[in-house]
Amino acid sequence: MSKITKPVLITEYGHLYKGDCLQIMRGIKSESVDLFFADPPFNLNKSYGNGVRDDLQESEYLEWCHKWIDEGVRVLKPGGSFFLYNIPKWNVQLASYISKSLNFRSWIAIEITFSLPIKGRLYPSHYSLLYFVKGKKPNTFEPPRLPMQVCRHCGGEIKDYGGYKNKMNPKGINLSDIWTDIPPVRHKKYKNREANALSLKLLDRILDMSSKEGDVILDPFGGSGTTYIAAELKMRKWIGMEISTTDEITRRFKSMAKDKEYYDCLRENVNVLFTKKALELRKKHGHHNGKYVLSETNITKQKALF
Ligand SMILES: C[S@@+](CC[C@H](N)C(=O)[O-])C[C@H]1O[C@@H](n2cnc3c(N)ncnc32)[C@H](O)[C@@H]1O
Repeated sequence: MSKITKPVLITEYGHLYKGDCLQIMRGIKSESVDLFFADPPFNLNKSYGNGVRDDLQESEYLEWCHKWIDEGVRVLKPGGSFFLYNIPKWNVQLASYISKSLNFRSWIAIEITFSLPIKGRLYPSHYSLLYFVKGKKPNTFEPPRLPMQVCRHCGGEIKDYGGYKNKMNPKGINLSDIWTDIPPVRHKKYKNREANALSLKLLDRILDMSSKEGDVILDPFGGSGTTYIAAELKMRKWIGMEISTTDEITRRFKSMAKDKEYYDCLRENVNVLFTKKALELRKKHGHHNGKYVLSETNITKQKALF
């Protein structure tokens, strides 16, 4: 790394810089990052604090996005993964721009349950997470498996998994491009600005899927630092930046115990067919304990479905 200002926070795995991400990224070496994740302001006229305008003309907003996307693409290693979280209105246009330099992998729909209806429009119930790769194949693609969705009263199956319910993979369900289990983060501690923190669960999944220990993660829009916390907990190196106050991020790193506790709970429910809670319910209501046998025939049949 060269020409960039001094970090305001150095942790075991990462560096946090205060300033405009465009300038900071320009000081980062080309092809040095394994995973790029961006959750920019959505241009919805929100207040982020000093130096951030969130009420640009459409063309201005897109031009600004193109600039930091170009930097993101430049710093990404061949085989590196690029994620962009935004509302569908912007991502549909930005996907077409990014496609000029990277290969499209997925449009992941992140279900949201806390939005308000918009008059004359369909009720918005997903955000878009674009997933691209530099070059033909990602260096890392290890999607975690998820627990089966069960009835919250009795723990019984509520979905038909292609009629193979007795032969499910004991490690859980294949990750799809619709993520319905990402909780919203609501807290009142951000008094002067809207930090719009994402769930640690979202970043845990993205980092699981597309990076490994020791990889370098770059997120140009720090906010409350969820990406950096996830990277630190997962032993990935990280480069962070935030134009407005970085106090929330620093504070979060000083008291990481809460995040760590939540993270440990999350990890108990990754790559398992049933969560602990579901297993207790299933036992109580006489459902089997999930010790399914995955036959070779079933694997072939499952593959044929996609
Ligand atoms: C949607 S929030 C990110 C929230 C973050 N993902 C989290 O989970 O906490 C976007 C952040 O980008 C910051 N930001 C906006 N423009 C920026 C710029 N040019 N350079 C660096 N940060 C910027 C805003 O201040 C805001 O904190």
